[in-house]
Amino acid sequence: MDTHVANEIICRPVHPTKLVPSLTEDVTAGLFASSKQLPPKYFYDDHGSALFDRICDEPEYYPTRTEDALLESSARDIIASVEPARIIEFGSGMSRKIRHLFRACSELECYPTYVPFDVCDDVMIKSGEELTERFEWLDVAPLSGDYTAGLGNLPVEGGQNLLMFLGGTIGNFTEEQGITFLSEMLDLMGPTDQLLLGADRMKDPDILHAAYNDGAGITAAFNLNLLEVLNRELDANFNRENFEHYAFYNPAENQIEMHLVCMSDQDIRFDALGRSLSFKEGDAIRTEISRKFTRETLEGMLHQAGFEVRSHYESYAYPFSLVLAAPR
Ligand code: SAH
Ligand code: TRP
Repeated sequence: MDTHVANEIICRPVHPTKLVPSLTEDVTAGLFASSKQLPPKYFYDDHGSALFDRICDEPEYYPTRTEDALLESSARDIIASVEPARIIEFGSGMSRKIRHLFRACSELECYPTYVPFDVCDDVMIKSGEELTERFEWLDVAPLSGDYTAGLGNLPVEGGQNLLMFLGGTIGNFTEEQGITFLSEMLDLMGPTDQLLLGADRMKDPDILHAAYNDGAGITAAFNLNLLEVLNRELDANFNRENFEHYAFYNPAENQIEMHLVCMSDQDIRFDALGRSLSFKEGDAIRTEISRKFTRETLEGMLHQAGFEVRSHYESYAYPFSLVLAAPR
């Protein structure tokens, strides 16, 4: 991975400590199989990241504004409780909501270094520049890489660390993957470090359905962009006109499932793999799950991973949880 430099904001690569499949391996195992699926990290090329940022502003997509309001009202409490020397954020994206924490930092005269960690370098550099303009004291030191590839090489030093994982992204893991990921974060943490976890809650299925099927079609464009990523990275020839975005709430699993459904038979070549695959009408690729928690299932998962809950901030009109947790 390259090191990118722009206005002094440098993305440092994080080298994996766990073997993760390459795109070729994920496609081979995930598409050349009867039940087709791909991991969600491939959504986030530059275009996909920009589309996700637009999803966050859609009126139906309640999680962003709900979590933003929770952060705004709890920011002083969180900063006073942790007094972080470093804030490490996993899957930071546009780093928009974190401004509430930095405002509280300014007020409380606590000046942490901000360490966003994401697969998309461009987004970290752009948002890092915006943040340093707004908060003069702020040092931004992004890490670029895949957080599913192990966290053992993260440069976490002494002093108080606040780890953050927002946006309900924990729900994009299965239960087992989520517990593994939380345990890996715990392994990084000293006894006085804390984790701030934002997770989406179960609610009226109509509200959930609308959030992943926005009227402007941005979520559909985001989902379909995955086919462009495959076309570009593997010299494939998906015609996106032949596929439809399909997202629904699965109440038995308490999760939104997102699919790309093939609408007419199409032979797909993957020139980079020297292979092809015939998609039949109705074939679907599962591109993401987004699990929805109760207060209890969320706290239970944190306990299982070895955390104890310090504060649980929650919203009611559109249930969403922001949990501050510490190593038990
Ligand atoms: N935290 C932001 C963005 C959530 S979207 C918010 O709350 O709005 C998920 C983010 O995680 C994206 O920025 C994406 O690029 C990043 N991401 C997804 N999978 C990743 C992985 N495996 N490793 C590192 N970053 C990842
Ligand atoms: N973490 C977000 C969520 O689960 C990711 C997300 C929201 C998403 N909308 C999406 C991912 C649409 C893919 C497509 O809500």
